[in-house]
Amino acid sequence: MEQSTIIALTKKYVRQMLEQDRTGHDLHHIKRVYRLANYIAEQEKVDPFVVSLAALLHDIKDHKFTGGDSTVGANLAADFLSGLNVPEEICREVREIILGISFKGGFNKDVSLTPAGKVVQDADRLDAIGAIGVARALTYGGYMGRILYDPMIPPQTYETIDAYLSNESTTINHFYEKLLKLKNTLHTKTARRIAVKRHQFLLDYLQQFLTEWEGLDY
Ligand code: ADP
Ligand code: NI
Repeated sequence: MEQSTIIALTKKYVRQMLEQDRTGHDLHHIKRVYRLANYIAEQEKVDPFVVSLAALLHDIKDHKFTGGDSTVGANLAADFLSGLNVPEEICREVREIILGISFKGGFNKDVSLTPAGKVVQDADRLDAIGAIGVARALTYGGYMGRILYDPMIPPQTYETIDAYLSNESTTINHFYEKLLKLKNTLHTKTARRIAVKRHQFLLDYLQQFLTEWEGLDY
């Protein structure tokens, strides 16, 4: 099968899988990550085929809703590609990328990613910062019924991955516990360049938020 046909069929499959999602892992997140990952791949001269497949398939099952288990989505993705007779080593690489790219409190930073994995992880992380990142965090927090902000609950440092995943912190604390850390975890020069403005936007947003919260602007 042609690579372009495999990608078209993968897009169709992902659309079916994500149609119902309202948690911030919606189809539009996938479209943005797919486009951005392909841009980074082009700039960094990384094979766009594996990048495209991993970008499209990386969120078909969210580990936050499978009890912290990323293998469900990774296996589904690999099985789907095997079913299209995609070469075994590509199915395996896509599976490893999906297992490896999630943030999970920064606890899985030791996993070794392939060049394609690094590109997809960078694109995924860029979509968690900037104006879109703010919107996704607020959407996710609302969906999960989290408190928006409470000055009495300071940002936390989590000792274990389970503590990170089960935390009941506020949505604004999520900026300090995850979003502001992402800039320094990026692998590619291209992503670091794009991150500068998006990271600054987070800082500006927080500053304005806290200024209004404390009534310091009137
Ligand atoms: P990853 O797949 O890298 O672990 P997540 O699935 O945790 O990332 O996050 C998906 C989206 O939901 C991101 O935009 C992220 O910032 C947001 N999100 C995750 N956890 C929280 C939280 N506790 N509060 C607000 N937003 C969150
Ligand atoms: Ni994602």
